[in-house]
Amino acid sequence: MNIFILRDEEQFVQTGASLISGLLHTNPRATLGLATGSTPIGLYAKLIEMNKQGLVSFSQATTYNLDEYVGLPENHPESYRTFMNEKFFNHIDIQIERTHVPNGNAANLEEECLNYDRMLEEHGPVDLQLLGIGHNGHIGFNEPGESLTGGTHLVELQEKTRTANARFFPSLDDVPTHAITMGVASILKARQILLLVRGEDKAEIVHRALKGPITTECPASLLQCHSNVVVLLDQGAGRLF
Ligand code: GLP
Repeated sequence: MNIFILRDEEQFVQTGASLISGLLHTNPRATLGLATGSTPIGLYAKLIEMNKQGLVSFSQATTYNLDEYVGLPENHPESYRTFMNEKFFNHIDIQIERTHVPNGNAANLEEECLNYDRMLEEHGPVDLQLLGIGHNGHIGFNEPGESLTGGTHLVELQEKTRTANARFFPSLDDVPTHAITMGVASILKARQILLLVRGEDKAEIVHRALKGPITTECPASLLQCHSNVVVLLDQGAGRLF
């Protein structure tokens, strides 16, 4: 595992963007696993800038997002599909039909999960999977517990997660209670994983995940089982390393 503690925001996003653009230079048809949350926004902004300057192209790339809320209309301002369109896809040269986000409104959610896994199998493995981490150690929406699920599945969100994400909604009651998420096995199938963590408030959980025991009680700790993980930390998140 390669852990880098970056000096400032510019170095943080530049390092992440270089990894992704380097991959796309070598393999323009790469499959990218993408994440939402506030952490990757700067990286997406940097990639948009590079795309506009002709330094990287997404025209042949395929993307799969990790997760989506259940029950929010696709065009809801806080759906992860809206997030990805507004923060990234609408501003780059990607073919929108090659972008995939689980459908949290599918009539049959179980079928949707199976379909998502089928598509991942077909287009996979993901060449580079971008990840953030939740305050409770979740990746995607794989919440801590006695067990974890391998494939894409429906999950009930923990209070800690709903509370953390309530800042994007009018009130806690408006935060969905369920989500669809890729499972840990699907995530670990990626050829390379790029974990981004920012902020002092994530210092303890990221240290526990990367240096503590491997346990389902901290889903991100399973990343220790992967042979090609790059971790970018800002000064705050890297405080305990
Ligand atoms: C959500 C997403 C995760 C993300 C996490 C952290 O719960 N499902 O994929 O990593 O938030 O978000 P943030 O970067 O805003 O702290």
